[in-house]
Amino acid sequence: MCGIVGYIGKDDGTEICLKGLKRLEYRGYDSAGMAVVDNQEIKSIKVKGRVAALEEKQKNNPLKGSLVIAHTRWATHGVPSEENAHPHFDCHKQFAIVHNGIIENYASLKRWLEEKGHKFTSQTDTEVIPHLIEDYYEGDLVATVQKVLSLVEGTYGLAIISAKEPDKMVAARCGSPLILGICDNGDYIVASDPTAVVEYTRKVVYLNDREVVVLNHGSYQIFTLDNKEVERETSEIAWDLAQIEKGGFPHFMLKEIFNQPDTVSNAMRGRIILSENRVKLGGLIDYLDSLAKSERIVFVACGTSWHAGLIAEYLFENLASLPTEVEYASEFRYKGSIVNTDTPYFVISQSGETADTLESLRKVKSAGGKVFGIVNVVGSTIARETDAGIYLHAGPEIGVASTKAFTSQVTVLSLLALYLAKARGKMSDEDMQARLNSVLALPKIIEKILKNADSIKNIAERYIKYNNFLYLGRGYNFPVALEGALKLKEISYIHAEGYPAAEMKHGPIALIDQNMPVVVVATDTEDIIYQKVMSNIEEVRARGGNIIAIATEGNEDIKNFATEVIYVPKTAGFISPIVNVIPLQLLSYYMAAARGCDIDKPRNLAKSVTVE
Ligand code: AGP
Ligand code: GLU
Repeated sequence: MCGIVGYIGKDDGTEICLKGLKRLEYRGYDSAGMAVVDNQEIKSIKVKGRVAALEEKQKNNPLKGSLVIAHTRWATHGVPSEENAHPHFDCHKQFAIVHNGIIENYASLKRWLEEKGHKFTSQTDTEVIPHLIEDYYEGDLVATVQKVLSLVEGTYGLAIISAKEPDKMVAARCGSPLILGICDNGDYIVASDPTAVVEYTRKVVYLNDREVVVLNHGSYQIFTLDNKEVERETSEIAWDLAQIEKGGFPHFMLKEIFNQPDTVSNAMRGRIILSENRVKLGGLIDYLDSLAKSERIVFVACGTSWHAGLIAEYLFENLASLPTEVEYASEFRYKGSIVNTDTPYFVISQSGETADTLESLRKVKSAGGKVFGIVNVVGSTIARETDAGIYLHAGPEIGVASTKAFTSQVTVLSLLALYLAKARGKMSDEDMQARLNSVLALPKIIEKILKNADSIKNIAERYIKYNNFLYLGRGYNFPVALEGALKLKEISYIHAEGYPAAEMKHGPIALIDQNMPVVVVATDTEDIIYQKVMSNIEEVRARGGNIIAIATEGNEDIKNFATEVIYVPKTAGFISPIVNVIPLQLLSYYMAAARGCDIDKPRNLAKSVTVE
């Protein structure tokens, strides 16, 4: 988590760094800070809170410098406070450091440094790094950084400047993302992700773990920690500035919800060959045959991406008769899971940087298994370390609550399930044709739901006084219930639980009274489980609960059972999650807005969870 920006160039880089921090603020927003080398001296400003407060401080007493580092923090060690804000320094403020990640052996290093007389001013793990550099420094910053990084355990994305070598910045990564933006005029910007550099250049270099980049005015070199020089090609960022701006919407989350007709279209573009009645997945082309022959498949992910994995379990088992397991990455990486080298593993991640998902990938690979990625961010660590995969092409997702990435993940997973169903001889041509047409119809259906946003807003505003919600769904829509509940918790801080509808009787029904609204996904009227869901609705009603039902257009009957009905167009059950989640996203958005919550920066959360 947290965002890092660094600048080395011809002009004053403070504005570029502050702008960069603002774009990275979705990664963390507990405190912010900036340091420059000015006249062989390190000068800095720090604030508790948002980047806006840092900007204010900068206005009152401006720093200036052509060597700048800056940070917006998501605290792991030490409370959010000005003293814990980065940059951190050594005893004599000769070295300044911004850090993303966790130094796991910081406690023993700190003890050792304190015994040697170093004075610490923060509770962060990060602060051991500048003190170690101070301790080992013998006139060569790069060599010292390489030495120090071989002593620390954990994860880091780092940018370091020093008053002793005022023409140089050193940056390094291990487990936390870091890129280098190369501007045409010879300036360089290092940052946690491309959003901070795209305004100035699209030409970037992705660093690998345990690499150090040394930036001088007008040139750079990449080294390993044991000082071997590395050649690395530059890459192009494939999107532009407009995609990371709000475009007239009050929040990124709302913009991203309203983007979904386009993003779902992008997820399927070129992947449905209707005339040949087939799905084409270029990224997996060399592996599709063996995937179709597998006896089992495993998905590993976190949060919303894990919910997409759960839907995939229904898709793969129902359509392709392929036994499927879904694992939380944080559990998978530590449990004694037996990695079967005949089983394909899929990791799903919007950011491509989630620490637990990345480590799960590495666990499978080091056991000799194959791992495929369903990833949004092109060039992200997960995208680079997987054997092959499918990109979502959803464009940057900035809202901390994931929306468009989820619908794109499920679209791509539906296509993969259809591919496998056909390849495994589990689907007739006629069935395939009908299902491909239903996928193609999705963007128009989503557009229609979005046109109804105001009526969902009205419902949302009537329910903001409630503090607990239950979300129910079955089959393909059980994970949608989980996702709806997660969205509500994340941005409105209202407690919400998602449950498979029929499980309610095994416990949660005890909670139901007039103070516990129950959101029920009750589409798929022709499915056998629809009647069962209706019985679950009756059970809630019998206990005085209020029902908000997501139902299929034309189902008038449901009005007799539900307090509120949100209609969605009829669609095939296997892709109904993509449709049904949209009103749930809107419901939580409008509830959070009516409660005055900071929707794009919900408390305690950060967009990419790059620490454990
Ligand atoms: C979604 O709204 C969340 N903020 C979170 O659960 C997220 O889905 C999770 O951290 C996984 O992220 P990833 O897809 O980038 O790996
Ligand atoms: N561990 C550091 C801190 O707590 C960095 C946190 C981060 O990566 O967000 O300050």
